[in-house]
Amino acid sequence: MPSSKQVGGDLDIGGRTEIEIPIDGESGIPLATVTEQYHAIGDLVLDGGLIERLEYIIEENGNIDRLLEYGLKPKQKILLCGPPGTGKTLSSKVLASSVGIPLVRVEFDSLISSLLGETGSNLRKIFELAERTRCVVLFDEFDVVAKSRDDTQEHGEMKRVISSFMQMVDSYNGRGMIVAATNHQHLLDPAVWRRFDDILLYERPDASQRSELLVKYLAALGARPGAEARGFARQTAGFSAADIARICEDMMRRSILAGRRGVRGEDLAWAIAEQKRRKRAMRGS
Ligand SMILES: Nc1ncnc2c1ncn2[C@@H]1O[C@H](COP(=O)(O)OP(=O)(O)OP(=O)(O)O)[C@@H](O)[C@H]1O
Ligand SMILES: [Mg+2]
Repeated sequence: MPSSKQVGGDLDIGGRTEIEIPIDGESGIPLATVTEQYHAIGDLVLDGGLIERLEYIIEENGNIDRLLEYGLKPKQKILLCGPPGTGKTLSSKVLASSVGIPLVRVEFDSLISSLLGETGSNLRKIFELAERTRCVVLFDEFDVVAKSRDDTQEHGEMKRVISSFMQMVDSYNGRGMIVAATNHQHLLDPAVWRRFDDILLYERPDASQRSELLVKYLAALGARPGAEARGFARQTAGFSAADIARICEDMMRRSILAGRRGVRGEDLAWAIAEQKRRKRAMRGS
Protein backbone atom coordinates (compact mmCIF):
# COMPACT_ATOMS: atom_id res chain seq x y z
CA MET A 1 0.00 0.00 0.00
CA PRO A 2 1.08 3.56 -0.56
CA SER A 3 1.98 4.30 3.02
CA SER A 4 3.31 0.88 3.89
CA LYS A 5 6.98 0.06 4.02
CA GLN A 6 6.75 -2.99 1.76
CA VAL A 7 5.06 -1.39 -1.20
CA GLY A 8 5.37 2.34 -1.13
CA GLY A 9 6.88 5.29 0.60
CA ASP A 10 8.68 8.59 0.31
CA LEU A 11 12.38 8.91 0.96
CA ASP A 12 13.77 12.37 1.48
CA ILE A 13 16.83 12.62 -0.74
CA GLY A 14 17.16 16.38 -0.77
CA GLY A 15 20.17 16.33 1.46
CA ARG A 16 22.21 13.57 -0.11
CA THR A 17 22.13 14.00 -3.84
CA GLU A 18 23.56 16.43 -6.30
CA ILE A 19 20.10 18.00 -6.60
CA GLU A 20 20.51 21.52 -5.41
CA ILE A 21 17.19 22.76 -4.06
CA PRO A 22 16.65 26.46 -4.76
CA ILE A 23 15.74 28.76 -1.90
CA ASP A 24 13.66 31.91 -1.58
CA GLY A 25 16.06 34.85 -1.80
CA GLU A 26 14.20 36.77 0.91
CA SER A 27 13.56 34.14 3.59
CA GLY A 28 16.16 31.52 2.70
CA ILE A 29 13.45 28.83 2.88
CA PRO A 30 13.71 25.95 0.35
CA LEU A 31 11.29 26.27 -2.56
CA ALA A 32 10.75 22.53 -2.94
CA THR A 33 11.19 19.16 -1.30
CA VAL A 34 12.86 16.34 -3.17
CA THR A 35 11.94 12.73 -2.55
CA GLU A 36 12.56 9.38 -4.11
CA GLN A 37 9.28 7.52 -4.50
CA TYR A 38 8.39 3.88 -3.98
CA HIS A 39 4.89 3.59 -5.36
CA ALA A 40 3.49 1.36 -8.05
CA ILE A 41 0.53 1.84 -10.35
CA GLY A 42 -1.11 -1.04 -8.47
CA ASP A 43 -1.29 1.21 -5.39
CA LEU A 44 -3.98 3.22 -7.16
CA VAL A 45 -7.63 2.23 -7.31
CA LEU A 46 -9.06 4.28 -10.15
CA ASP A 47 -11.32 4.03 -13.11
CA GLY A 48 -9.75 1.74 -15.74
CA GLY A 49 -9.49 4.53 -18.31
CA LEU A 50 -7.50 6.70 -15.93
CA ILE A 51 -5.12 3.86 -15.08
CA GLU A 52 -4.58 3.26 -18.79
CA ARG A 53 -3.73 6.89 -19.40
CA LEU A 54 -1.30 6.95 -16.49
CA GLU A 55 0.32 3.79 -17.84
CA TYR A 56 0.60 5.38 -21.24
CA ILE A 57 2.25 8.50 -19.81
CA ILE A 58 4.69 6.25 -17.91
CA GLU A 59 5.45 4.24 -21.04
CA GLU A 60 6.12 7.34 -23.13
CA ASN A 61 8.32 8.96 -20.52
CA GLY A 62 10.12 5.71 -19.80
CA ASN A 63 11.01 5.49 -23.50
CA ILE A 64 11.87 9.14 -24.02
CA ASP A 65 15.07 8.40 -25.98
CA ARG A 66 13.25 6.31 -28.58
CA LEU A 67 10.74 9.12 -29.10
CA LEU A 68 13.44 11.79 -29.28
CA GLU A 69 15.20 9.82 -32.03
CA TYR A 70 12.13 10.56 -34.16
CA GLY A 71 11.97 14.17 -33.03
CA LEU A 72 9.01 13.45 -30.76
CA LYS A 73 8.52 14.19 -27.09
CA PRO A 74 6.49 12.23 -24.58
CA LYS A 75 3.49 13.79 -22.85
CA GLN A 76 5.36 15.71 -20.19
CA LYS A 77 2.95 18.35 -18.92
CA ILE A 78 0.07 16.84 -17.03
CA LEU A 79 -2.79 18.47 -15.15
CA LEU A 80 -4.56 16.40 -12.48
CA CYS A 81 -7.99 17.64 -11.41
CA GLY A 82 -10.54 16.33 -8.95
CA PRO A 83 -11.91 16.34 -5.40
CA PRO A 84 -9.69 15.97 -2.31
CA GLY A 85 -8.34 12.55 -1.43
CA THR A 86 -8.88 10.94 -4.83
CA GLY A 87 -5.25 10.15 -5.64
CA LYS A 88 -3.80 13.17 -7.45
CA THR A 89 -0.73 13.52 -5.26
CA LEU A 90 -0.35 9.75 -5.08
CA SER A 91 -0.51 9.57 -8.89
CA SER A 92 2.35 12.05 -9.21
CA LYS A 93 4.36 9.82 -6.87
CA VAL A 94 3.49 6.80 -8.99
CA LEU A 95 4.60 8.67 -12.13
CA ALA A 96 7.96 9.62 -10.59
CA SER A 97 8.49 6.18 -9.16
CA SER A 98 7.53 4.30 -12.32
CA VAL A 99 9.75 6.42 -14.55
CA GLY A 100 12.51 6.13 -11.94
CA ILE A 101 13.10 9.83 -11.35
CA PRO A 102 12.82 11.96 -8.18
CA LEU A 103 9.75 13.96 -7.24
CA VAL A 104 10.29 17.66 -6.65
CA ARG A 105 7.28 19.07 -4.83
CA VAL A 106 7.05 22.83 -5.06
CA GLU A 107 6.28 24.51 -1.76
CA PHE A 108 3.89 27.34 -2.51
CA ASP A 109 4.33 28.90 0.92
CA SER A 110 7.92 29.69 0.12
CA LEU A 111 7.46 30.10 -3.65
CA ILE A 112 5.03 32.96 -3.12
CA SER A 113 7.53 35.29 -1.59
CA SER A 114 6.74 38.10 0.78
CA LEU A 115 8.94 40.23 -1.40
CA LEU A 116 7.22 41.70 -4.41
CA GLY A 117 8.78 40.47 -7.62
CA GLU A 118 10.63 37.62 -5.94
CA THR A 119 7.89 35.06 -6.74
CA GLY A 120 8.64 35.18 -10.46
CA SER A 121 12.31 34.68 -9.77
CA ASN A 122 11.52 31.73 -7.46
CA LEU A 123 9.48 30.18 -10.23
CA ARG A 124 12.39 30.60 -12.61
CA LYS A 125 14.69 28.82 -10.16
CA ILE A 126 12.28 25.87 -10.07
CA PHE A 127 12.17 25.63 -13.86
CA GLU A 128 15.97 25.91 -14.04
CA LEU A 129 16.16 22.94 -11.68
CA ALA A 130 13.65 21.07 -13.87
CA GLU A 131 15.85 21.65 -16.93
CA ARG A 132 19.06 20.64 -15.12
CA THR A 133 17.77 17.52 -13.41
CA ARG A 134 15.41 14.90 -14.78
CA CYS A 135 12.56 14.85 -12.29
CA VAL A 136 8.81 15.20 -11.88
CA VAL A 137 8.09 18.74 -10.72
CA LEU A 138 4.81 18.76 -8.84
CA PHE A 139 2.84 21.97 -8.44
CA ASP A 140 0.52 20.49 -5.86
CA GLU A 141 -2.60 22.38 -4.83
CA PHE A 142 -1.99 24.55 -7.84
CA ASP A 143 -5.20 26.50 -7.20
CA VAL A 144 -3.36 28.40 -4.44
CA VAL A 145 -1.87 30.46 -7.25
CA ALA A 146 -5.09 30.68 -9.23
CA LYS A 147 -7.18 31.58 -6.21
CA SER A 148 -4.85 34.33 -5.12
CA ARG A 149 -5.81 36.12 -8.30
CA ASP A 150 -9.12 37.02 -6.67
CA ASP A 151 -7.30 38.94 -4.02
CA THR A 152 -7.15 42.46 -5.40
CA GLN A 153 -3.99 43.45 -3.56
CA GLU A 154 -2.13 40.48 -4.94
CA HIS A 155 -3.80 40.68 -8.30
CA GLY A 156 -1.08 42.39 -10.32
CA GLU A 157 1.72 40.29 -8.87
CA MET A 158 -0.13 36.98 -9.24
CA LYS A 159 -1.19 37.78 -12.77
CA ARG A 160 2.45 38.24 -13.64
CA VAL A 161 3.30 34.99 -11.88
CA ILE A 162 0.67 33.07 -13.84
CA SER A 163 1.84 34.48 -17.12
CA SER A 164 5.48 33.67 -16.34
CA PHE A 165 4.36 30.19 -15.27
CA MET A 166 2.71 29.71 -18.65
CA GLN A 167 5.77 30.96 -20.51
CA MET A 168 8.04 28.66 -18.52
CA VAL A 169 5.78 25.66 -19.12
CA ASP A 170 5.79 26.50 -22.84
CA SER A 171 9.53 26.72 -23.09
CA TYR A 172 10.26 23.76 -20.78
CA ASN A 173 12.80 21.61 -22.52
CA GLY A 174 13.73 19.18 -19.77
CA ARG A 175 13.52 15.38 -19.86
CA GLY A 176 11.20 15.03 -16.88
CA MET A 177 7.60 16.01 -16.26
CA ILE A 178 5.67 19.03 -15.06
CA VAL A 179 2.62 17.95 -13.09
CA ALA A 180 0.06 20.32 -11.59
CA ALA A 181 -2.75 19.15 -9.30
CA THR A 182 -5.86 21.01 -8.26
CA ASN A 183 -9.30 20.44 -6.81
CA HIS A 184 -10.57 23.78 -8.05
CA GLN A 185 -10.08 23.37 -11.78
CA HIS A 186 -12.90 25.82 -12.51
CA LEU A 187 -10.67 28.56 -11.07
CA LEU A 188 -7.97 27.96 -13.63
CA ASP A 189 -7.64 30.22 -16.60
CA PRO A 190 -8.38 28.42 -19.93
CA ALA A 191 -5.00 29.71 -21.07
CA VAL A 192 -3.41 27.64 -18.29
CA TRP A 193 -5.34 24.50 -19.32
CA ARG A 194 -4.05 24.79 -22.85
CA ARG A 195 -0.44 24.44 -21.70
CA PHE A 196 -0.90 20.85 -20.60
CA ASP A 197 -0.43 17.83 -22.87
CA ASP A 198 -2.99 15.84 -20.92
CA ILE A 199 -5.66 16.55 -18.32
CA LEU A 200 -6.74 13.74 -16.03
CA LEU A 201 -10.03 14.06 -14.17
CA TYR A 202 -10.25 12.19 -10.87
CA GLU A 203 -13.48 11.16 -9.20
CA ARG A 204 -14.49 9.69 -5.87
CA PRO A 205 -14.56 5.88 -5.92
CA ASP A 206 -17.76 4.05 -6.83
CA ALA A 207 -19.14 1.20 -4.69
CA SER A 208 -16.95 -1.52 -6.18
CA GLN A 209 -13.85 0.67 -5.95
CA ARG A 210 -14.68 1.40 -2.29
CA SER A 211 -14.78 -2.33 -1.58
CA GLU A 212 -11.54 -2.78 -3.49
CA LEU A 213 -9.92 -0.03 -1.43
CA LEU A 214 -11.07 -1.69 1.78
CA VAL A 215 -9.51 -5.00 0.76
CA LYS A 216 -6.28 -3.30 -0.37
CA TYR A 217 -5.80 -1.20 2.74
CA LEU A 218 -6.65 -4.00 5.11
CA ALA A 219 -4.28 -6.33 3.28
CA ALA A 220 -1.50 -3.78 3.74
CA LEU A 221 -2.26 -3.86 7.45
CA GLY A 222 -2.23 -7.64 7.48
CA ALA A 223 -5.99 -8.17 7.65
CA ARG A 224 -8.72 -9.46 5.40
CA PRO A 225 -12.35 -8.39 5.49
CA GLY A 226 -14.99 -11.09 5.81
CA ALA A 227 -18.77 -11.04 6.16
CA GLU A 228 -18.60 -8.02 8.48
CA ALA A 229 -17.55 -5.84 5.52
CA ARG A 230 -20.60 -6.67 3.43
CA GLY A 231 -22.36 -3.36 3.95
CA PHE A 232 -19.17 -1.29 3.69
CA ALA A 233 -19.65 0.11 0.18
CA ARG A 234 -23.22 1.14 0.97
CA GLN A 235 -22.23 2.81 4.24
CA THR A 236 -19.42 4.81 2.64
CA ALA A 237 -21.25 6.34 -0.34
CA GLY A 238 -19.57 9.62 -1.30
CA PHE A 239 -16.38 8.84 0.61
CA SER A 240 -13.00 9.47 -1.00
CA ALA A 241 -10.20 6.92 -1.22
CA ALA A 242 -8.36 8.90 1.46
CA ASP A 243 -11.43 8.60 3.75
CA ILE A 244 -11.36 4.83 3.29
CA ALA A 245 -7.63 4.65 4.00
CA ARG A 246 -8.28 6.53 7.22
CA ILE A 247 -11.17 4.25 8.22
CA CYS A 248 -8.95 1.20 7.81
CA GLU A 249 -6.17 2.72 9.89
CA ASP A 250 -8.58 3.86 12.61
CA MET A 251 -10.14 0.45 12.73
CA MET A 252 -6.85 -1.39 12.91
CA ARG A 253 -5.51 0.90 15.65
CA ARG A 254 -8.57 0.28 17.75
CA SER A 255 -8.53 -3.43 17.14
CA ILE A 256 -4.80 -3.76 17.94
CA LEU A 257 -5.03 -1.74 21.15
CA ALA A 258 -7.99 -3.84 22.27
CA GLY A 259 -5.87 -6.94 21.75
CA ARG A 260 -8.14 -8.29 19.05
CA ARG A 261 -6.96 -9.97 15.89
CA GLY A 262 -8.38 -9.37 12.45
CA VAL A 263 -11.36 -7.34 11.39
CA ARG A 264 -14.46 -7.08 13.54
CA GLY A 265 -17.76 -5.62 12.38
CA GLU A 266 -17.99 -3.54 15.54
CA ASP A 267 -14.57 -1.89 14.97
CA LEU A 268 -15.37 -1.26 11.32
CA ALA A 269 -18.73 0.35 12.17
CA TRP A 270 -16.98 2.51 14.77
CA ALA A 271 -14.30 3.64 12.30
CA ILE A 272 -16.93 4.52 9.67
CA ALA A 273 -18.84 6.56 12.26
CA GLU A 274 -15.60 8.31 13.28
CA GLN A 275 -14.90 9.29 9.70
CA LYS A 276 -18.47 10.55 9.24
CA ARG A 277 -18.05 12.67 12.35
CA ARG A 278 -14.76 14.06 11.06
CA LYS A 279 -16.31 14.90 7.70
CA ARG A 280 -19.20 16.71 9.41
CA ALA A 281 -16.74 18.68 11.53
CA MET A 282 -14.75 19.66 8.43
CA ARG A 283 -17.89 20.85 6.66
CA GLY A 284 -18.83 22.89 9.71
CA SER A 285 -15.45 24.61 9.88
N1 LIG B 1 -7.20 6.43 -6.07
C1 LIG B 1 -6.62 6.01 -4.94
N2 LIG B 1 -6.24 4.72 -4.80
C2 LIG B 1 -5.65 4.29 -3.67
N3 LIG B 1 -5.43 5.07 -2.60
C3 LIG B 1 -5.79 6.36 -2.66
C4 LIG B 1 -6.39 6.90 -3.86
N4 LIG B 1 -6.64 8.20 -3.65
C5 LIG B 1 -6.23 8.49 -2.42
N5 LIG B 1 -5.72 7.40 -1.80
C6 LIG B 1 -5.20 7.35 -0.43
O1 LIG B 1 -5.40 8.61 0.17
C7 LIG B 1 -4.15 9.27 0.41
C8 LIG B 1 -4.27 10.73 0.02
O2 LIG B 1 -4.49 10.82 -1.38
P1 LIG B 1 -3.87 11.97 -2.28
O3 LIG B 1 -2.98 12.81 -1.42
O4 LIG B 1 -3.27 11.39 -3.49
O5 LIG B 1 -5.18 12.78 -2.63
P2 LIG B 1 -5.29 14.10 -3.50
O6 LIG B 1 -6.22 13.79 -4.63
O7 LIG B 1 -3.96 14.62 -3.82
O8 LIG B 1 -6.06 15.06 -2.48
P3 LIG B 1 -5.96 16.66 -2.28
O9 LIG B 1 -6.78 17.27 -3.37
O10 LIG B 1 -6.57 16.87 -0.93
O11 LIG B 1 -4.52 17.03 -2.34
C9 LIG B 1 -3.15 8.52 -0.43
O12 LIG B 1 -1.84 8.59 0.10
C10 LIG B 1 -3.70 7.12 -0.41
O13 LIG B 1 -3.40 6.49 0.83
MG1 LIG C 1 -2.92 16.30 -3.16
